[in-house]
Amino acid sequence: MLKMKKGLFVAVVAALLMALAACGGKSTETSSSSGGGEAKKKIVVGTDAAFAPFEYMDKGKIVGFDVDLLDAIMKEAGLDYELRNIGWDPLFAALQSKEIDMGISGITINDERKQTYDFSIPYFESTHMIMVKEGSPIQNALDLKGKTVGVQNGTTGQEAVEKLLGKENKNIKKFENTVVAIMDLLNGGVDAVVTDNAVANEYVKNNPDKKIKAIADPKNFQSEFYGLMFPKGSDLKPKIDEALKKVIDSGKYAEIYKKWFGTEPNIESLKQ
Ligand code: ARG
Repeated sequence: MLKMKKGLFVAVVAALLMALAACGGKSTETSSSSGGGEAKKKIVVGTDAAFAPFEYMDKGKIVGFDVDLLDAIMKEAGLDYELRNIGWDPLFAALQSKEIDMGISGITINDERKQTYDFSIPYFESTHMIMVKEGSPIQNALDLKGKTVGVQNGTTGQEAVEKLLGKENKNIKKFENTVVAIMDLLNGGVDAVVTDNAVANEYVKNNPDKKIKAIADPKNFQSEFYGLMFPKGSDLKPKIDEALKKVIDSGKYAEIYKKWFGTEPNIESLKQ
């Protein structure tokens, strides 16, 4: 009698554990083929969708060059995925803790980040530009001295401005995302915003009424390259690299590039 009860107890506990495990599976968002040994895990990709034309929100959807490129890469690799708008600083934390599998967000490949993360092969060449109001006396990066400059926190734009003005300079205002930095420029909170050239140009093009101009300064701003970012040691990296190469070589990359930038990409610059 006692033994029977014990057996029953064990069975109930086992059933509960199995139910819990099933719930766990659902909450980590595995794809529809539940329970089977062949269950394919959805790759969770993070982004900061406030960086047009790379990633931004349009009618409740994340859209942009990066979004189309990601889709082409994942289709090529045959991987199921989900893109989440989690914000810039949280993106780095979530990758480091392996809460998510991958990031695409106009992320520049640099040595400092490479110590903590892995990157794909480069997929876009970028540099910085200065956004100012029309009529501003600022004409190049050196003119930023003594001015208040807005940057997105934790970006290479912040680094570029710190190089010019000094790391501890109180005139550097750091914003959570690039959209709020530009809003502060419009409101007169800062004299300039330094951000990635394609983002600055896109804003100027789409907002002629705002009377903002974007200034290039190739002497003081270096060229850099974007890559998809992974937790260190991720086994996704080789798969993504292979798929990205195919997307570039097949002409799909050029198609996406033309859709968003209206011009032919310089593929050679990516292969340096
Ligand atoms: N390329 C710059 C960097 O990696 C800025 C990227 C910001 N991206 C974004 N989605 N907010 O630091």
